[in-house]
Amino acid sequence: MKDKLIVALDTGDRKYIDRLSGTLMDIVPWVKLGFQAFSTLGTEAFPWLSGRGHKIFLDLKFHDIPNTVARDVGTMTKHGAHMINMHASGGFEMMQAARKSAESAAAENSIPMPILLGVTVLTSIDEDGFQQNFGSERQLTKQVVYLAQLAQEAGLSGVVASPLEIEPIRRACGDDFVIVTPGIRPTWASRGDQRRITTPAAAIDRGASYIVVGRPIIAADDPLSAAEMILEEMRGA
Ligand code: C5P
Repeated sequence: MKDKLIVALDTGDRKYIDRLSGTLMDIVPWVKLGFQAFSTLGTEAFPWLSGRGHKIFLDLKFHDIPNTVARDVGTMTKHGAHMINMHASGGFEMMQAARKSAESAAAENSIPMPILLGVTVLTSIDEDGFQQNFGSERQLTKQVVYLAQLAQEAGLSGVVASPLEIEPIRRACGDDFVIVTPGIRPTWASRGDQRRITTPAAAIDRGASYIVVGRPIIAADDPLSAAEMILEEMRGA
């Protein structure tokens, strides 16, 4: 189960990242770096955290023209990111260009191909928010499944989606498709700004490939115990 838990190191404080990673490295291989952490650590993060046995999910949610995203994803592949995401709403051509660029960078540097993910609809957006923000008549779940299929056709490995959408995505995209789910809240943690949420055990039960947990671990008084409790819940699924 420990390979299915990704801890979001959502802080720009290098010392805190050092402490969190040092505390968690024996039980949590996967860590996620967002813009805050990446702007502090830069690409040095890759050899540093990989050297501690971590795998790195670079969560910069690229969204730009195909040429730009392809370069960004190729560069981050070369530096050693193990998982990279981009907004699926950037379109088929953008995702396809990113995949080709990652493949070339991996081959040229003799490193494994990273897991490439499309972000569907953010887990902080609910049905009403989706209709208001996107002016769409479409049901949110339909939009998520549509974007997941588009990502799959473009050759990405999977998507980031809410745990509530795992089942329809699995039905549409199959068992090998990677589904990474944030919006995870153990019953003992506060929900914060997340809307489409579930517990760690329920996300695993529904078929999540990986779950992403930030504040319930990194803002806990004892992050190690919080991570152990979540892993225990996942094992009980
Ligand atoms: O603290 P919390 O557990 O809510 O953190 C969830 C993490 O997952 C954050 O880093 C957030 O940016 C990220 N994320 C998300 N929803 C998405 C994609 C990424 O919550 N659709």
